Amino acid sequence: MLATQKQYVQWLENKDGNETLHQALWLSESNHAPPARIVLVDDKTTADDAYRLACEGTSLLWRGDFHNARQLLQALGRRIDRTNERSELRKVKKAANKSAADKSVAPKEIPNLFHQQRQIQAQRARILSRLLLELDANYVSQLRRAPDVSAACTVAFGQLDKELNESCVLSFRDLQGVLGAAQWREKGVPIESLGLSIFPHYGVFAPTRHEYVQLLLDAPLPKVHDVAYDIGTGTGLLAIILAQRGVKQVIATDLNPRALACAKENFTRLALTSVQLQQADLYPTDAPLANLIVCNPPWLPAKPSSPLEYAVYDANSKMLRGFLQGAKTHLAEQGEVWLILSDLAEHLQLRTREELLGWFADSGLTVKYRLDTKPKHGRSQDDTDPLFAARSAEITSLWCLERV
Ligand SMILES: C[S@@+](CC[C@H](N)C(=O)[O-])C[C@H]1O[C@@H](n2cnc3c(N)ncnc32)[C@H](O)[C@@H]1O
Repeated sequence: MLATQKQYVQWLENKDGNETLHQALWLSESNHAPPARIVLVDDKTTADDAYRLACEGTSLLWRGDFHNARQLLQALGRRIDRTNERSELRKVKKAANKSAADKSVAPKEIPNLFHQQRQIQAQRARILSRLLLELDANYVSQLRRAPDVSAACTVAFGQLDKELNESCVLSFRDLQGVLGAAQWREKGVPIESLGLSIFPHYGVFAPTRHEYVQLLLDAPLPKVHDVAYDIGTGTGLLAIILAQRGVKQVIATDLNPRALACAKENFTRLALTSVQLQQADLYPTDAPLANLIVCNPPWLPAKPSSPLEYAVYDANSKMLRGFLQGAKTHLAEQGEVWLILSDLAEHLQLRTREELLGWFADSGLTVKYRLDTKPKHGRSQDDTDPLFAARSAEITSLWCLERV
C-alpha cells in the first residue's frame, strides 16, 4: 500500500496531566501535504470555533463521538456556503446570470466563471478536509459510536504495516468518500440498458451518468470486428459492451492501477474471457491492430486537483490529443474510432468545435457519422448552479472517425 513516500503528522496530547508528542502516518487521497498545526477538538468544541480554526489553517483532530464529527462537518459546510453566498459565489452567480441573459458577454466571462467556481470548490474542500480522525494500524477507530471502517479502508488504501503498529490520521471527508465507495462496490451501479450492474472501486470513475451507453449500443459495429481496444477503461464498462456485442478480442487499458483491478473484477463477475487488460499510457503494446478503438476520455480541459479528478479533467486536452494522434497507427484497414465526448468544454468556452475538428484532421481522421444524447444528470437540471446555462446545453456524442 501507499506506494508514495510515507508522511507523518504530529500533535501534542495531554494525558493524565502529561503533555506528550504523538505521531501518526498521514493518509491523504487528495495528495494534501500533512497539516503543520493540529489541535484536539471534541463534542464541547463549538462549530463557530471549529470553523474559525479551520479557516485559519489549523487542522482539528476529533476526539469526540463519531456521529457528532459528521454533524460538525455539516455545520462547517453550512458556514462556508453562507460566507460564499455573501462573497465570491455571489459574484460568480451574478456574472453567470448576466452572461446567460446577455449572450455578448458569455464568451469572455464563462471560462473565468468556471475557474472561479473550481477555486471556490477547492477552497471549500480544503477547509472541510481539516477535520481529522485517527485510526489504529488495523483501521479501527477508538471514537465513541464509531462504525467498523476497517474493511473499507483496507480495500481503499491497502494493509498498513502491522509490525510497525503505526496509527494513521486522515480527513473525515476522505473517510466518508471511502465508505461511500464501499457501498457502490457492494451494491453496484445498475446500467439498465445493459441489464447488469457495474461495481466501481474506490478512486475509479463510477459510471453513474451513463447516457452514453445507449450510443455504444446504437452505433453499428464495423463489418470486421475481431479486435477492439478500450482506452481508459475505468470500471471496464465499454469493454463489456463491446464483448457483449460480439467483438472477439477486446484489449482494455488504463493508467490507474485501481481501475485495472476494478475492471478485472467486473470482467470476472460476468465471466468474460474475451477481454484482456494492460496498464498503459493510452495504447496497448504487443497487440494486433484494432478494427475498432473506443475511448471515453476525461472531458474537461483543466488541471486535475487530486488523483480522483484524473477521470474528469485533462490538462491541455493531453489525453484526448494523444489518443487521436495515436489512433491511425493502431487502426486496421477499414477500422473505426468511437470517441465519446461531451461538448460541455465548448459551452464553457474551454475548447472550440473548430479545435476539435482540427485535431481530428491533424490525426489523419475524418468524421464518418455522429450520434448524440442529452445528459439527464442532476447538475444539468440544477438552475441554481452558476454554470447552469452551459451545463443545460451539454450534449454527449459518439464521434465515429475513420482514416481520411
Ligand atoms: C471518463 S473515464 C472513462 C472510464 C470508462 N471508459 C467509462 O466510460 O466509464 C476516463 C478514464 O481514462 C483513464 N485515463 C486517463 N488518462 C489516461 C491515459 N493517459 N492512458 C490510459 N488511461 C487513462 C482514467 O484513469 C479513467 O479511468
